[in-house]
Amino acid sequence: MKSWDAIIVGGGIIGLSLAISLRKEGLRVLIVERGEPGREASYAAAGMLAAGAEIPPALKTLAEESARLYPEFVHELQDESGSKVDLRDQGTILLSCGSPFPESAERLSPQRLRSLEPKLAFPSKSRSAGPESLSSSPDKPSPRQPDEICAAYLPERSVDPRALTAAAIKAAHHRQIDIASGAEVKALLVDGGRASGVQTERSTYSAAMVVNCAGAWSGNIAPYEFPVRPVKGQMLAVVGGPSLQHVIRSEHVYLVPRSDGRVLIGSTLEDSGFTKQTDVDTLQRLFQAALEIVPELASSRQHQAWAGLRPATPDELPILGETSTSGFFVATGHYRDGILLAPITARIMTALIAGKPPAFDLESFSPGRFA
Ligand code: GLY
Repeated sequence: MKSWDAIIVGGGIIGLSLAISLRKEGLRVLIVERGEPGREASYAAAGMLAAGAEIPPALKTLAEESARLYPEFVHELQDESGSKVDLRDQGTILLSCGSPFPESAERLSPQRLRSLEPKLAFPSKSRSAGPESLSSSPDKPSPRQPDEICAAYLPERSVDPRALTAAAIKAAHHRQIDIASGAEVKALLVDGGRASGVQTERSTYSAAMVVNCAGAWSGNIAPYEFPVRPVKGQMLAVVGGPSLQHVIRSEHVYLVPRSDGRVLIGSTLEDSGFTKQTDVDTLQRLFQAALEIVPELASSRQHQAWAGLRPATPDELPILGETSTSGFFVATGHYRDGILLAPITARIMTALIAGKPPAFDLESFSPGRFA
């Protein structure tokens, strides 16, 4: 019977990146994916590489290091796959009058904001009646420019997660990584107290090392029941509206432009189990929130709508490390930051699997912390 050195459970961006990294170390790798590789959270993600804001403090170091690794990570995937993944480095504009900006953010004057993103309206502290438009129109008087605006710039990148994942799948094939699709892992196989493979409904697969990268489904692999739950995010993409350069994030919505002209509008945080249904009212609310900050999006039309399931843990931190069963590792629970954290997760887990000491303090991410 064929066997591998390592089995990765889950073919999302975390599993794919780790599989490629392990293969580079010479390991024979099998990915076992319950559906189609790259079609769950990685397919639904917006792709903001947001290491500068909204990251839990315990995750900051890993997030920043992963953001630093991104250009090289993308370069290698593009090179091996021959596909582009739309890594953009125009940066992010944060709009917030309610909460402070991160220290690394550059506060923007109205003039600088106008030059960066002319189509943007924004909330200002000098008026409470609603957003101020920066763009003038022939039939309306030009709005008074606010004295103080609640906008800041962060030099964050974004990427197209669907293109990234497709490139990672091609790179995995190119590197002779095996992929078993449509096979849900039900249990870890253990022999003499050590991991020895996995069991699906139809087959068993053997390897001395197994890594649970199953995202929202990570809790379903017996005998471990990691407390990972799905948190649904609904999103839509519009086309035909104004051209935007930056990711724009307000307290209510984010807008992520792609180089092909699409603008993604997201998202929700819904505890509704494993359903990926979208609903018209929610999408409409997201679109309205987007209109408030970019009024000219009114001329755009909906291109697509979808939902994905983020893998969330009780403390909203990932689970990274070896379990109490020797040879059984876990890299899951990346919640809202799986795309950003893929390169650093691959690096950390590759070191752990090779028995090397991790370059980071992983205590906050320990698999045993929920026991
Ligand atoms: N990372 C974006 C989101 O979770 O909505």
